[in-house]
Amino acid sequence: MKTGLINKHVLITGASGGIGIQTVKSLLKERSEVSACYHTRRRQLNQLSDKYPDSLNLVKADVKHEDEVAALYESAVSRFGRVDVSIANAGIANATPVGIHEMTVEQWDNTLRVNLRGAFLTAKYFFKNLEDNPDEDASLILVGSTAGVFGEAWFADYSTSKAGMTGLMMSLKNEIVQIAPRGRVNIVNPGWTSTPMAEEALEDRNRLSSILQTIPMRKVATPSDITNAILYLASDTLSGHVSGQTITVAGGMEGRVLFSKEDAVRD
Ligand SMILES: NC(=O)c1ccc[n+]([C@@H]2O[C@H](COP(=O)([O-])OP(=O)(O)OC[C@H]3O[C@@H](n4cnc5c(N)ncnc54)[C@H](OP(=O)(O)O)[C@@H]3O)[C@@H](O)[C@H]2O)c1
Repeated sequence: MKTGLINKHVLITGASGGIGIQTVKSLLKERSEVSACYHTRRRQLNQLSDKYPDSLNLVKADVKHEDEVAALYESAVSRFGRVDVSIANAGIANATPVGIHEMTVEQWDNTLRVNLRGAFLTAKYFFKNLEDNPDEDASLILVGSTAGVFGEAWFADYSTSKAGMTGLMMSLKNEIVQIAPRGRVNIVNPGWTSTPMAEEALEDRNRLSSILQTIPMRKVATPSDITNAILYLASDTLSGHVSGQTITVAGGMEGRVLFSKEDAVRD
């Protein structure tokens, strides 16, 4: 199937993580030009850069900091011109459960700064780039989480930061068309996905079976499951009239227990 992503310039934050790196690989296969933002880990991206020196631009930025996000877009535009698609994918989650009565203000602020303020800044400089480089089409994809819809006890900072994506999307889908008439804003909400972020939980057999108790398909997502939804929303050919929508990629999860522990793990 043709995606029409050839020669489109796509910027993605969190490019060095599990979902990010898979998305970068898929975009490069589609022959997009990719500006990939990492924060601390660059090794896997370096390998891709050796393979695709002409179509991959690696940029280090902390999405919490406005000057760094502004510099990220400057680097992107000077390398490949107008950014056509942005994917706000960078995110953090505390590895250990913490009740709200014990959560520090520092933890709360840090999670919201990376996840929500990071998405705001990514959107802000994406829109500035659209204004400076006018054209018809544009796509912004926010990576949320099922936690933002169903909540997640002991991770209230994380679920609140992801719930905020909905307000951002519903507002920005009406703003983007003032700058790019066919511009679109959508969310991809992954459920449990096999990446470094979820590694600790998924390696704990007890935790894994309670996770699987809530997923009709009784499997966690692969990074490719999420990437495929992101690519669909990035493509004007495939989703050119889709805006203000949330695609949940979570095997049918609906935030309640469906199976007993014994039935949760398939043979
Ligand atoms: N895995 C899941 O089960 C799951 C479920 C629902 C939603 N999600 C969401 O999916 C997105 C991708 O997560 P993932 O599973 O791929 O996790 P991951 O492997 O831990 O990747 C997280 C990415 O975010 C980047 N990042 C963290 N803090 C940053 C900062 N301050 N500035 C810039 N980048 C920063 C990391 O950069 P460095 O590695 O370079 O430091 C990394 O590239 C996140 O928004 C996450 O909340 C994941």
